Amino acid sequence: MSIESNDRPVRIGLGVSGGIAAYKAVEVMRLLQKAGCDVRVAMTKHAAEFVTPLTFRALSGQYVLVDDYAPSNPDPIAHINFSQEIDLLLVVPATANIIAKFANGVGDDFLSSTYLASNAPVMIAPAMNTSMWDHPATQRNIAKLKEDGVRFVEPVAGELACRTVGTGKLEDVENIAAQALTLLGIPDGVSGKAVEPSDQDLAGERFLITVGGTREQIDPVRFISNRSSGKMGFALAERALARGAEVTVVAGSFSAEPPEGIKLVGAMSAAEMFEAVEKEFGSATVFVGAAAVSDFKPRDAASAKIKKEGRETLTLELEKTRDILSHVSENRHKGLIVAGFAAESENVIEYARQKLEKKGLDLVVANDITREGAGFNTETNIATILVKGRDEAVECPLMLKTELADRILDEIAVVRQRLAAAA
Ligand code: PMT
Repeated sequence: MSIESNDRPVRIGLGVSGGIAAYKAVEVMRLLQKAGCDVRVAMTKHAAEFVTPLTFRALSGQYVLVDDYAPSNPDPIAHINFSQEIDLLLVVPATANIIAKFANGVGDDFLSSTYLASNAPVMIAPAMNTSMWDHPATQRNIAKLKEDGVRFVEPVAGELACRTVGTGKLEDVENIAAQALTLLGIPDGVSGKAVEPSDQDLAGERFLITVGGTREQIDPVRFISNRSSGKMGFALAERALARGAEVTVVAGSFSAEPPEGIKLVGAMSAAEMFEAVEKEFGSATVFVGAAAVSDFKPRDAASAKIKKEGRETLTLELEKTRDILSHVSENRHKGLIVAGFAAESENVIEYARQKLEKKGLDLVVANDITREGAGFNTETNIATILVKGRDEAVECPLMLKTELADRILDEIAVVRQRLAAAA
């Protein structure tokens, strides 16, 4: 679907400035795209420290402007052309700094020059620490911009990245997208369709998902772990929930924010995760092993901190942990669908197919963790889904983890239909 304006799709210039909430701009972009808008992205240099321009480029199919003087920039007068060709300039998130620049007519980077050069309406969704938000200088700048006709999607109160609680948290991405679409006169139904899928095709399913990394203690202060952030597993949880399922997550260590509405069980080590899954999987209808579970753990964890004095080397003896996914698969009750991941760095498909067969899975999601934008601690992933009894693979090119989650859930829904038909 595309929404037309002057015989071309409505075009939104999405400005992203440098705050921890920059990753949420990716979600806003996807919601606007789903509503039929063409989205072009301009980032500040600091925003590019939080999310790479490549993420936006891959998802928008357009060059992402950070520095209009960059030799790679295809347009020599980009700030004029970009600013003249948009129907709305939407800034998500807006820092105190970019607000101050806009309010005072400073145009010292691409985004602030675009603001000055554009005649399009402007909407700003700020996100910052509470003290910065409350500061009289920030409030003065906001009042000035409001006088100039700029619309604001006010930040909300909540726990901020700096672990303080107060006003400054970015408004929900769905609300930001809906307000932008309303300003553009795009009917609510369109944004509603994009934001709140009514499809409850997983109603009645009870998902049990392992998420994050495990920590295997060496001594009371040291452990063996990995870089899993929990983003992939939580994306699955969020999407399964939105599609009507009940969701329990057994999580090890993670840095991503768990979605609201799930049952969250903590389990730090592989052994704790095994135990928690053992308790829960009897009542599940779908099990997904998205966690990066340590394959080995120290045979004897020291009860006191190992001292470095008097030794030049330290040898650890490691022993295998129990494979949670295989255990669930081997002991499954009738109707339980079992899905796993394969994090591979070579022979990706071959190794993933071996896992599918050896572990007796219904499907496996293979991710090549060496590829840019895939694997650990990224907003996006690149994967191939292999389904039991099917030769052809489902290729999933670079996409948001929430989108990949939907593709995986689509395949799980197909497996359920097949099982129901065979029953
Ligand atoms: O959390 P993110 O930062 O978003 O990163 C996502 C991810 C890369 C962690 C995820 O996409 C992923 O690939 N998870 C599986 C990582 C992994 O441990 O892969 P593996 O090939 O070693 O294990 C195969 C499967 O067996 C996995 O489903 C794993 O959960 C499971 N397993 C492994 C060992 C073990 N002792 N028990 C298990 O259940």
